[in-house]
Amino acid sequence: MTPTLPDSDGFDYRDGQLHAEQVSLGTLAERFGTPLYVYSRRAIERAYDRYADALSGRSSLVCYAMKANSNLAVLDLLARRGAGFDIVSGGELERVLAAGGDPSRTVFSGVGKSVAEIEQALRADILCFNIESAPELERIDAVARRLGTRARISVRVNPDVDARTHPYISTGLKNNKFGVAYADTLALYRDAARRPGIEIVGIDCHIGSQITEAGPYIDAAERVLDLVDGLERDGIGLRHIDFGGGLGIRYGEETPPATGELVAALMARVDARGHGAKTVMFEPGRSLVGNAGVLLTRVEYLKPGEARSFAIVDGAMNDLMRPTMYDAWMGAVPVCPRDGAASVYDIVGPVCESGDWLARDRTLVLRPGDLLAITSAGAYGMAMSSNYNTRGRAAEVMVDGDHAYLVRARERPAQLFAGESRLP
Ligand code: LLP
Repeated sequence: MTPTLPDSDGFDYRDGQLHAEQVSLGTLAERFGTPLYVYSRRAIERAYDRYADALSGRSSLVCYAMKANSNLAVLDLLARRGAGFDIVSGGELERVLAAGGDPSRTVFSGVGKSVAEIEQALRADILCFNIESAPELERIDAVARRLGTRARISVRVNPDVDARTHPYISTGLKNNKFGVAYADTLALYRDAARRPGIEIVGIDCHIGSQITEAGPYIDAAERVLDLVDGLERDGIGLRHIDFGGGLGIRYGEETPPATGELVAALMARVDARGHGAKTVMFEPGRSLVGNAGVLLTRVEYLKPGEARSFAIVDGAMNDLMRPTMYDAWMGAVPVCPRDGAASVYDIVGPVCESGDWLARDRTLVLRPGDLLAITSAGAYGMAMSSNYNTRGRAAEVMVDGDHAYLVRARERPAQLFAGESRLP
């Protein structure tokens, strides 16, 4: 029986084997080895187009939250499509520039921007800083004045709305470290308006990630629009409203709203409240790349046990943190499904931790040497990988039609300790 895959334009079974676009995953494993991240160019472009189409006819900008997957090839193809970028570090800004992205379409989020990062972003002339606190506003003002320039800013408001998602990735509640408390926002804007190093351009919010209902978004949007009205009464005009990212994807049984539906519902609110002429922005990460990638891994050993049976694969928690870190369910499907008696397996890696698992309680027919695809691994997979156990990071491949491009080479152990030294 052919396993079912979550929504993806890029991956399906053909002639009994899972393919990325026109290329079989078996071929890719032979050519590039495993564990291997495989992305579909078409799936990423279609996911981006769903935002762009829903926003067509109005002034808008989709800033890809590149923390989800910052490979230069991913950035490159999104930049060519017209995307801007949402960055959270100076390192990410360097990647945008290296990938041919446009700094004037780049926003800088995050609670801990350093002086060096602020300088770097001002010199690159980014679109705006999403300010997360009063001391950050003060710092950005000071740095801008020292450089003889003005920093464009928007305030990231914490709308105190429950995104009803995993607590680690919920960001819009009062008790989160993110954003400026709703009640303090107007005062912070008034302060910003008086500062010579600051130019106010927008307002921003982001309430969490892997959100699977439209309700929390609409609630947050209404609260942000209330602030926009309040600011205008104060004589503070805005050019843009940024609704953040966070739209969930299907890993298994989730039923998130379609991108087009969510955007349409939000735009209806924006128009109804008379702000349709402003630029609207989004900062999606997962919904652009999540379903566009898989982690390809090979079964090394099968280890039947009394209590549990294990399929030990060559991918591990260092390659894909999400299952163990968030107890996240991700699909695990055979590349070439076989007939025979199925067993229930935990899919685990070689790392020396009991938390090193990729999937649990999966009913599969497996033999040593078989390939498995961990699905919906395009977002927060490679980006969160580590070198724990001195494991080189996996290679990454971008498939485009019948072509496969190696977009990141597999790391060799010697690279991992190249910056270290023995004692004299
Ligand atoms: N904008 C801001 C300010 C953010 O903090 C984030 C994600 C995004 C946009 C993009 O959110 P998305 O559209 O991808 O949901 N590692 C976790 C997810 C952490 C999300 C952090 N912030 C995971 O693997 O589920």
